[in-house]
Amino acid sequence: MTYEQRLRNQLVKGLRRNGFLHNDTVAEALSTVRRHVFVPDRSLKAVYRDEAFITKQLDGVPVSSSSQPSIMAVMLEQLELEPGQRVLEIGAGTGYNAALLASLVKHRGRVTTVDIDPEIAARAKAHLRSEGFNNAHVVTADGGLGYADDAPYDRIIATASCWQVPPAWIDQLKDGGLLVLPLRLNGAHISLALRKHGEDLMSTSAATCGFMPLRGAFGPPFERRFDDATASADGELSATAWASLGAMLREARDVKVSFPRRRYAGNTPLYYIALQGKPVLRYFRQTGSWGMIPFLLMTSEASAIALPWQRPPRGRLPLCGSDEALDYLRKTLSRWHVEGQPDQRQLRARVRPSRVRLGPLPRRANGKYRFRRGDHLFELWFEQ
Ligand SMILES: C[S@@+](CC[C@H](N)C(=O)[O-])C[C@H]1O[C@@H](n2cnc3c(N)ncnc32)[C@H](O)[C@@H]1O
Repeated sequence: MTYEQRLRNQLVKGLRRNGFLHNDTVAEALSTVRRHVFVPDRSLKAVYRDEAFITKQLDGVPVSSSSQPSIMAVMLEQLELEPGQRVLEIGAGTGYNAALLASLVKHRGRVTTVDIDPEIAARAKAHLRSEGFNNAHVVTADGGLGYADDAPYDRIIATASCWQVPPAWIDQLKDGGLLVLPLRLNGAHISLALRKHGEDLMSTSAATCGFMPLRGAFGPPFERRFDDATASADGELSATAWASLGAMLREARDVKVSFPRRRYAGNTPLYYIALQGKPVLRYFRQTGSWGMIPFLLMTSEASAIALPWQRPPRGRLPLCGSDEALDYLRKTLSRWHVEGQPDQRQLRARVRPSRVRLGPLPRRANGKYRFRRGDHLFELWFEQ
């Protein structure tokens, strides 16, 4: 057995052991497709670790990556692929995930993968061709509009985070087909598998994930650049709020918070906090210690606190402005405990066309969280 094959087998074993991989067909694809061809500038050892790699930045902001294999494995399982199916991927990136898709639908199937960036698309095309994936077709286009020429699709997968469900994806998906997308959920991202029933989508599974934003016509609507950071929200913030955030960030102080210890893939209160609807900003800092804690909960124009995925180092979090965000965080964490620590993997969703007057951030009513984005009403709840 070659060295690279041994590394692939170890990766697959690790993904199984850590609960990210259950399906033998997906495991087979991960142990045969050669990731190092798609990510050529890293060492073999690094490429076969469960790591994401940034592959392109624009003005210091990452815009393309090879996603983390554990997230790819989870989403490939969510897709429930069968040989012979037609698949659309939005976000070709390196082409590695398209290669996995192509190997899962086999020669009878067909994968169309779209990237908005011509340089990225050209590289993906070259990699797929050199590895002999003749059933994968790379297109340069804004994938927010889908790709009508190869429609209809049995499966659609987005590998960039989405603020809404672009209507073209629903139109181009066959009835009964599955759409897997990382939905922006007020700071957090959740990978939802949604089955099409006429005009409605009903979820079949949910999983933790984190992705770069979809760009183009359906890109994130609320975004600001600071000196060394980018912050984006899922709802409109007032000009005063954005301005005060910039000022507050310069004067953050550390406070002690008892945050539960959780593994990244396991249950985290972050989703529950996000669903309560106070704006949670996704905050990306190019340099400095905050890079590890990329979420900010803002409760008012005068108060924000950084939220971690995991227990923060020494239990201390940066608090900006007044204590309001800290009090809110403590109260919400204790409600999460009282309600039995609802787990994001139990989240279920229904998405349907509606003009109901609701904002883009979740609102809780009768045990459901509702919001409207684009032409769709989203309803989410934790399945007991
Ligand atoms: C996380 S990377 C994709 C990873 C990729 N699937 C792989 O296997 O390497 C996200 C990609 O989405 C692309 N992207 C962002 N917005 C897009 C859009 N509107 N249409 C198509 N591609 C888009 C970016 O250029 C980037 O390459």
